[in-house]
Amino acid sequence: MSNFLPAKDAYNVAVIGATGAVGAVMLEILGERDFPIGNLVPLASSRSAGSTIEFKGRDYVVQDLADFDPAGLDIALFSAGGDTSLEYAPRFADAGCFVIDNSSAWRMHDDVCLVVPEVNPQALEMAKLNHIIANPNCSTIQMVVALKPLNDAVPIKRVVVSTYQAVSGAGGRAIKELAEQTRSLLSGKEPEVEVFPARIAFNIIPHIDVFMDDGYTKEERKMIDETRKIMEADIAVTATTVRVPVFYSHSEAVNITFDGPMSADKARELLAAADGICVVDDPKNEDYPLVSDATGSDSVWVGRIRKDNSLINSLHLWVVADNVRKGAALNAVQIAEILIRE
Ligand code: A2P
Repeated sequence: MSNFLPAKDAYNVAVIGATGAVGAVMLEILGERDFPIGNLVPLASSRSAGSTIEFKGRDYVVQDLADFDPAGLDIALFSAGGDTSLEYAPRFADAGCFVIDNSSAWRMHDDVCLVVPEVNPQALEMAKLNHIIANPNCSTIQMVVALKPLNDAVPIKRVVVSTYQAVSGAGGRAIKELAEQTRSLLSGKEPEVEVFPARIAFNIIPHIDVFMDDGYTKEERKMIDETRKIMEADIAVTATTVRVPVFYSHSEAVNITFDGPMSADKARELLAAADGICVVDDPKNEDYPLVSDATGSDSVWVGRIRKDNSLINSLHLWVVADNVRKGAALNAVQIAEILIRE
């Protein structure tokens, strides 16, 4: 693949939503991976403009996105909600920088690529036209990383997925809400419900994002449409997305029907050899992927790989990943790394 940005020693990078749950991890990962940054600009709303964030031992003042001039930036990592991206991403792109947008605003736009580096890096070519790259939904990212090596071997016909999603997917206020409700309930107080449609502590909510006319939620629709766009395949996908009282890392029960035979052993071998996947699948020793393993790690963890005894050419997988890292911030930084690669 040819260069997206001219070769330089360091690049000017803005993080939009730098004070948020994903933005903070974007900064952490840029630091961990030693991304060559010349000028770092943390941006947020006027609410937190003037506060400071730390990056590699130095304090940076958060600036107000509304007053910021993007001229001279190379890369802008957006994670400040769909409305902010709809309004500001085109302005940043017009100023010449590459926008990597973590919101759902641009994902299904025909002229915008939706990229998971392990799955469809070739789609990035499209970004040369309009400079906007969409980062997929967190639940979609971890699932397509697991589907890709299997689909390359035997085409997938259908996927049925049920998710168990952590509260951090709904942002910093949601993390606080689970902690505060848990504290309230354990001390015999009435919990306050603000972010989620119902109490999340000691509960399970089969509702993420808004309901649509067909009874699916928008989160479910995202998993269906985004999977087909990223995999560039006519796969039938159906999803039930569920919020569980876990802080970080989403888990997914994924049922896959192939166009031909695919044994559990073959799937295990393909998954173990794939980039970005860690297979943990030893039921005899009660070893399978757990949220507590995945949180803070960069891998997509896959286990419980077994034949579906109810249907020909079908398998079950259990897929777990840190939704804020691989599901959001890490995927965005991996895309940025491709943009600067020689
Ligand atoms: P702020 O701290 O100023 O509210 P989270 O996903 O954890 O809820 O975080 C959302 C992030 O998006 C925060 O950094 C927040 O900044 C930022 N944000 C929200 N709305 C805007 C906006 N209109 N302009 C710029 N940043 C925004």
